[in-house]
Amino acid sequence: MRSFVGANWKMNGSGVEGLAYLERLKDSDVESEPVDVVLFAPFTLLPVLAEDAREAGISLGAQDLYWQDRGAFTGEISTSMLLEAGCSWVIVGHSERRNLFGEDDELVRLKLIAALRAGLRAVLCVGELLEEREAGRTEEVVKGQVLRALEGLEEADPDRVVLAYEPVWAIGTGRNATPDEAARMHGLIRSWLSDMIGEMGAKDTRIIYGGSVNPENAPDLMTREGIDGALVGGASLGASSFLQIIRSCCHHHEH
Ligand code: PGA
Repeated sequence: MRSFVGANWKMNGSGVEGLAYLERLKDSDVESEPVDVVLFAPFTLLPVLAEDAREAGISLGAQDLYWQDRGAFTGEISTSMLLEAGCSWVIVGHSERRNLFGEDDELVRLKLIAALRAGLRAVLCVGELLEEREAGRTEEVVKGQVLRALEGLEEADPDRVVLAYEPVWAIGTGRNATPDEAARMHGLIRSWLSDMIGEMGAKDTRIIYGGSVNPENAPDLMTREGIDGALVGGASLGASSFLQIIRSCCHHHEH
């Protein structure tokens, strides 16, 4: 399978910076690398960056969406608005949405369904909090998130949904799961997926890791069995570190 690398800019960046960044990606011929690269930019930058992203051979994604099509939802954004802005991917259930903005599993599921029905592809994020890990509840928490988002969802085919395992204590903290621990969780997530969508679908679904991925730790993480790419926050803000991470993902082995 092709690996997947996402740059999650969160609430960072500007149009000028974004265009310069895409120029770097284009000059580095990212397009020819055997990896799907997606830039998850703030909403207002999507139309600004759309054309240059296409020229650089990468896709554009949004960091969130709302599940209703239109109406009185001040501050929210719909799938058709995202499509019109030139984006083809969206992140659903990022831990910052869940923990800072109170999104629960039900809302995450509604967003995922809306995204897929509209023809967007989605990165579904799951991951445990530090206190959940310390209480020995990691597997139960992550399994619950995966099941409640995906169970019975016919649209959830491997081409259109990427799962991101992002232990919350590793996000933006400089701490990351050891490659062994990440690989173990990826194996478990794949086995739960297999119970839901069958072995074939689970085998073809990309499960990527996120949480303080950087050019130094990416090579080890990305060569582990079952880690099919990365969702990168802080280290994706600079083109050169993001490019190094993309290259590590290109050496991802087949399984
Ligand atoms: P980080 O963010 O790489 O800065 O830890 C990852 C994420 O939140 O997706």
